Amino acid sequence: MCGIVGILGTGREAAPVLLDALKRLEYRGYDSAGIATVDHGRLDRRRAPGKLTALAAELEAAPLSGPSGIGHTRWATHGAATMTNAHPHAASRVAVVHNGIIENFRELRARLASEGHSFVTQTDTETIVHLCQDMMDRGLGPVEAASETLRQLEGAFALAFLFEGEDDLIVAARRGSPLAIGWGEGEMFVGSDALALAPMTTRITYLEEGDWAVVTRAGAEIHDEAGRIANRPVQVVSPSSVQIDKAGHRHFMAKEIHEQPTVSTYALAHYVDAATGLIRSEAEAVDFAQVDRLVLVACGTGHYACAIAKYWFERIARLPVECDIASEFRYREPPLSGRDAAVFVSQSGETADTLAALRYAAPHVGHVLSVVNVAESSIARESQIVLPILAGPEIGVASTKAFTSQLVTLGALAILAARQRGAIDEDEERRLVRILSEAPRKLSEAIACAPEIEAAAITLAEARDVLYLGRGPLFPLAMEGALKLKEISYIHAEGYASGELKHGPIALVDSSVPVVVLAPRDGLFEKTISNMQEVMARGGRIVLFTDAAGAEAAAEGAARVVVMPDCDPFIAPIVYAAPAQLLAYYAAAFLGKDVDQPRNLAKSVTVE
Ligand code: F6R
Repeated sequence: MCGIVGILGTGREAAPVLLDALKRLEYRGYDSAGIATVDHGRLDRRRAPGKLTALAAELEAAPLSGPSGIGHTRWATHGAATMTNAHPHAASRVAVVHNGIIENFRELRARLASEGHSFVTQTDTETIVHLCQDMMDRGLGPVEAASETLRQLEGAFALAFLFEGEDDLIVAARRGSPLAIGWGEGEMFVGSDALALAPMTTRITYLEEGDWAVVTRAGAEIHDEAGRIANRPVQVVSPSSVQIDKAGHRHFMAKEIHEQPTVSTYALAHYVDAATGLIRSEAEAVDFAQVDRLVLVACGTGHYACAIAKYWFERIARLPVECDIASEFRYREPPLSGRDAAVFVSQSGETADTLAALRYAAPHVGHVLSVVNVAESSIARESQIVLPILAGPEIGVASTKAFTSQLVTLGALAILAARQRGAIDEDEERRLVRILSEAPRKLSEAIACAPEIEAAAITLAEARDVLYLGRGPLFPLAMEGALKLKEISYIHAEGYASGELKHGPIALVDSSVPVVVLAPRDGLFEKTISNMQEVMARGGRIVLFTDAAGAEAAAEGAARVVVMPDCDPFIAPIVYAAPAQLLAYYAAAFLGKDVDQPRNLAKSVTVE
């Protein structure tokens, strides 16, 4: 949610470097963008509403000079996506870029306004600028003014300050939103994540919660929340983890869907011991035989991965599961016990609600595990046990490869829990591991159905509403498929449990409503097909995803049938994820929508 970058450069203009870094951060928000630089002490800025191309045009028309600067790409929280509300916000002596929310901005703004400061934006960020300017007007130096400003702010944020008259200074702060410092050769950088700082440097220091840093070309002096000097390690991040391109695809989303057969092998290689054919995992530190209940918490697509995994933990490991969305869990204050293990699933590892849910659960439960894609993320750092999904950077705002890698990771965890609880013997464990290990190949076969899926997607693209149906673990996948469609094509879609349809939603069905049915030939197939027939009897247009046996039994009357590879029911929700993603992708691409950056969304939701 909003991307921040800063540079204290040597021998080059900062603005083009910042613009390039903002391209790598645009996935965090694209409502507006802006850059401020200092040149021989003179602070100046350019901003533009809309995507980065608008800022690039602005800079082309009126370039910014100077080797030092800060940049921002915005996901609007307070105030519309206008030029005035775009960051950096500035007063005469300071400019600020901000990710997060200042909760006490109304009080601060009222006080500053009564003291003569005039505000021109609707943002909470402008308050920071005036607060800092106020301190400087009262005689404080820039670092002291920034530190005093931070002391007065409440909320969750990452900030970078740039000052008039200071060519060699950025003050950076992290409270609730991630921020990294990059170490170059005679240059220093600040960024929301390591991606922002590639390819400038791979030497990164992640600020801890509450840290703030005085960054100059000579290095970074980091202070902890109490103001003490803090030693934070410099980590070298692998260049491959910061490489991003579309690899010949039209969109990152297409690339990431097609990457799934490959990246899902990374999680498998991590969780399967090739020598024994059994699961090995960081989670072996938990004795699941002593766990009474598993609590699975996440948001959005991560939540649907949890909802699928619930079926696995209950069926394979006979372990009761409570599964919740983080924004409800955190305020519901559910009773928890020391015999519960809680698992928090998050691609970014920074989702504010999921992090808050983890913080609520941590003191009460026996074990805190996280399933994350970003190993250095806040959720990872606050967990006792981190289970990496190893999917690599996911740039498309709609999550795809992270979802299937989350499923592989949770599937492995379910097998491990089953072993420890004595629910399966070693032969059965090997059998389940073999089935899970087939997921990459089956995903690849499913993706090979792309032409049929594209043809089906065009049918969907004309619709105003689409229903998705599934049973068992395919029910949460139906919800995930509907989420994918609505978020990138803006077509209204809902996923339902097939058996629930006749309890209400069937009233929506007529010949204008396509109904996507996810029905591998498993133990529930006949039931799902009966529900499908009820839809057909009411004129609903069926798009059926099933395997060869399912197609033979039930294709008649369906408007479209896409024949998926045969697979064991255990991995069907992984395998059927790819066509659900492709269906949404092709519909959105056909409609000419901005697939990678759908309106109103951002990749990393660091506000609640
Ligand atoms: C949908 C999507 C979101 C995220 C959700 C949680 O395609 O990507 O629903 O799944 O915002 O994000 P993470 O997994 O980063 O916590």
